[in-house]
Formats: sequence, structure tokens, C-alpha cells
Amino acid sequence: MTKSTALEHKQKISSMQQPAWWHGAAIYQIYPRSFLDTNGDGVGDLPGIIERLDYVASLGVEAIWISPFFKSPMADFGYDIADYRAVDPLFGTLGDFDRLLGKAHGLGLKVMIDQVLSHTSSEHAWFAESRQNRSNPRADWYVWADPRPDGGPPNNWLSIFGGIAWKWEPRRAQYYLHNFLSSQPDLNFHNPDVRRAALDNVRFWLDRGVDGMRLDAINFCFHDRQLRDNPPKPLEQRTGRGFPADNPYAYQYHVYNNTRPENVPFIEELRRLTDRYPEAVTLGEISAEDSNATIAEYTRPGRLHMGYSFELLSSEHSPAHIRATVEGALAASAEAWPCWSISNHDVQRVVSRWGRPDSPPHLATQLTALVCSLRGAVCIYQGEELGLREADVPFESLRDPYGIAFWPTFKGRDGCRTPMPWRHTERGGFSTGTPWLPLPADHVVLAVEVQEHDPASTLQAFRRLMRWRHQQPALLWGDIHFLLATDAVLAFTRQLGNERLLVAFNLSPQAASAELPRVLAGAALSGHGLPEGKLQGAQLSIPPHGALFSRLA
Ligand code: BGC
Repeated sequence: MTKSTALEHKQKISSMQQPAWWHGAAIYQIYPRSFLDTNGDGVGDLPGIIERLDYVASLGVEAIWISPFFKSPMADFGYDIADYRAVDPLFGTLGDFDRLLGKAHGLGLKVMIDQVLSHTSSEHAWFAESRQNRSNPRADWYVWADPRPDGGPPNNWLSIFGGIAWKWEPRRAQYYLHNFLSSQPDLNFHNPDVRRAALDNVRFWLDRGVDGMRLDAINFCFHDRQLRDNPPKPLEQRTGRGFPADNPYAYQYHVYNNTRPENVPFIEELRRLTDRYPEAVTLGEISAEDSNATIAEYTRPGRLHMGYSFELLSSEHSPAHIRATVEGALAASAEAWPCWSISNHDVQRVVSRWGRPDSPPHLATQLTALVCSLRGAVCIYQGEELGLREADVPFESLRDPYGIAFWPTFKGRDGCRTPMPWRHTERGGFSTGTPWLPLPADHVVLAVEVQEHDPASTLQAFRRLMRWRHQQPALLWGDIHFLLATDAVLAFTRQLGNERLLVAFNLSPQAASAELPRVLAGAALSGHGLPEGKLQGAQLSIPPHGALFSRLA
């Protein structure tokens, strides 16, 4: 089935509510600094994205999500916004953005942008005004608090990037809250003027024609008005949320500095606004003490369309973990459409995180196939289609303040942010200048131009896989039901109407077999490009990092 016949099939589906474009969509994440630099300053830009949109469309994805390109001092590389409505000159102009949007739409790609509502840059005009004194018109736009009687910070809240979450402002003789860098002050969403201003900025981009927003740290908008201390977390529970082991952030239950009940009416307001743009989608980035429960709560009808889950972004990747994660998300809300991701600009690249130095190249294809077979949408980070490994960036070249603060136990996020290798040259065809982060030699040999000419490459396998996926409506929109998770094998079904697929992966580097809970009969589907497993009765046998897809009778 071609993509268009899959769409025709979609229109005929009666057993589920009509799927929207984002149901089962593959969303390609572009980190603009590292995509393609067209003006030789070493940093990628919007014209660079425009130049490579044909490439992105050729991957068989439905949409792009572009990480922030707004005016910013770049302390957190754009996640610190100084003007929500302006494009940073480093990246181009608003005119470039409009051209990008037009070209993407012409190619059939939806465009999602990042909206960082919970905090601004300390260089935003709102903060410049707010910090002056306690009586200016924006005095209450940020989270200001008096010191404790001993002069210390108002409570025990900690910043994700390490250390206390409060910074002293002499002009007001008060502290302000920053859940991230001290140059990323948190807005005070309890103030209705702040909520209005945030929504106005979102409206600005919806009016320009974007198809959706990834909402950065959306559960961080509100804080506890009483500024109560977060409770301490026992040692044995301090793992699993992706924080470096020596980050004190892991020592607390973050119940008062984020995920406050007031967030919910705000996201409902945000949804009411978005609904005026019928195709637009909201994808909330939600990392909370119980992320599944929070995603379920935030994606109930009238709230966000999808939650962006962190659970598969950690190093844990056993079949049992993947099963528990997906089942947990669906148990929390059967109607939810989670958005899965195994890689992004904040975590180690997945083939390094989940693989081993001697893993075969088709591991990358297997992991793409796995994440694209789960029920939900999926975000694919630039470079995953090439099978790039985490780059080893030396200390002298590190740019991420988080990594610089925690080096050497945690090297930060630069290793997944190095520039895209387009050509087999020293600078990878990324820039004529000096790239803002070095391109590793083992990435350059995997450059797009190299892989384009090799039918056996990871890139070509990616394209074939995405085309093949579009021919399997059950994989795009079907229900999911898990059958087993052993040390090596994960098996589940996807069902849409009468069509039921058995899907199984061997995540281990050895051949593996496993017994399904019952005998199943089916016809193996080939074309996905992975080493193929076999089903005999209830017995599965799958080659190392292979897969089995079977249409069940
Ligand atoms: C983004 C990070 C960013 C942080 C603060 C996130 O979760 O993905 O890159 O540093 O929010 O805005």
C-alpha cells in the first residue's frame, strides 16, 4: 500500500475515531544550531533547514519539530528566550521562517515549533523591568521571595542544572526562582497578566500558520504559592529520571516546584486557544514524579493532545521496562496518544545508550522500528536516521553549561548536539566556518552523501522502514496488547478492526527464542529490512537484533 492508499484506508476506519494527522505520526526533530549552516558562522540556521527540507520529506516523516530559534542570549541554546516573537539573527529572520513554513507545507510536512512558556531569559524585557524594584508594573511577573530570617533562600527547591533554585537580586533585596539556569527565571503564572501574555505569544505563531507546538517543561508553569519545602527522597529512589548521580536534584520529591494543580486550568485555556486552529496539535513535555499519571491527567479531553514521555530516554531499555512503560501510559489513560521518543537533544544518542561498541549497524534500524511500532506518535531526532553514535566531545570543546558544571561524571548534552554530517569532509558539509561543536570523524564517514549511495546504509534502511510502516495501518493506529517480555524478547500485537499484527523484537546481541502465551498462526510480513524471526506455533525465534512482523489469521 502506498502512503496515499494508507490514507484512504484511514478514512474508512470505523472502529476508532477518525485519526488526526498526528495520530501515529513520525515527527522529525530539528535542532537548528546543528542542522545546516548557510552563512558560515558555524551555527545552523533557518535557510539551512529550508535547503534540506526535501531531504527531510524524503525520510517519510509527517512533521518536523524545530527546537527554539527565537531571540535569545543562548545560555541554554535557545531555551532561554528574550523575545518570543522574533527570530534570533543567528538563525535568520521571520521572513525565513515564513518561507520555511511555506516550503514544508508544499512538501506535505507539518511544522511544530517549541514554546518555552514556563521561563524566559534573564535578558527578556519583562525580567529587566521586573527585577528593578518591588513596585514596577511587572514586579509580580516572576517568582520573587524574601530571604529567610538568616538571609538564606526561601526554601529548599533545587535547580535541575544543579544547586539551589534561587538567585539573589540586590535591587529588590529578594530572591527569584529558576528551575533551570539562573539566567532562566521562572515566570509567575499565578498572575493572570502573565498567562495572557504567554497565550498571546502562542497565538502569534498559530496565526502565522504553525501546525503545532512542543510545550517545553509545561508542568513547570506554576509553583506552590506557599513555597513549601520539597520532601527529601530516600537514597534508593534517587535514580531513573535521567539526572546525573551527583546532581542533588535527585534528592527530592519535586511536588511543590512543579506539576501544581493550577497547571491544569492553564493547559485547558491553552487548548481552547489551539482549538481555534483545527489542525494544530499540542505536545506537552512532561517530566514529573509520576510522569505517566501526569501525562494522563494533562491529556484528558479538553487538555493537551499528546504528552511527550521521558521514560524511554533513560538508559534502561529491557523488554520489561519498555512493556511496563507503554502499559503504564495506557493504563493511566486508554484514550491517550503518547508521543514516544528514544533520542533527543537532551540525552545520549540511543545507539550508544542502548547498544554496545560492537553492536551491528542494523541496531539503529531495529530501534527505529521498535519505537515506530508502539501505539502513539513518535519523535525522531536528527541524525538517528544515519545511526550516529554519541560524540565524545573533549572538555575544552564543551558548550552545554549543564555538562560543564557536572564534568567529568556527566558530560552534558553536547555529545548528541554535534552538527549533522552531510558530506564526507572534515566539516561534514555542515558549515564553511568552524562548527560550534566539533564533528567527530566517525560521524563524517556516515554522512548523508555517503549513505545516499549505499543501498545497504542505515539511511536507506530508515526510508524503506518508514515507507513500509505506512503500508501497515494497524502499526499506525491500532490498539496495542503485550504478549511477553523476556530478558531478550518483546512481543505484542497491534490491532485495527479485523487486522491484527504480531510484532516481536529480539533486543539482545544473541539469537533468542521465547514462547508466546498461546499458539498463533500468521503470515510473516517482510519488507521492514531487519533480520527476520520465525513463528512456529507459540515458539518465536529471532536473530540478534532482529524482528518478526506477522499478519495474524
Ligand atoms: C529542554 C532542554 C532545556 C530545558 C529548559 C527542556 O526540557 O528540552 O533542552 O534545557 O527544557 O528549557
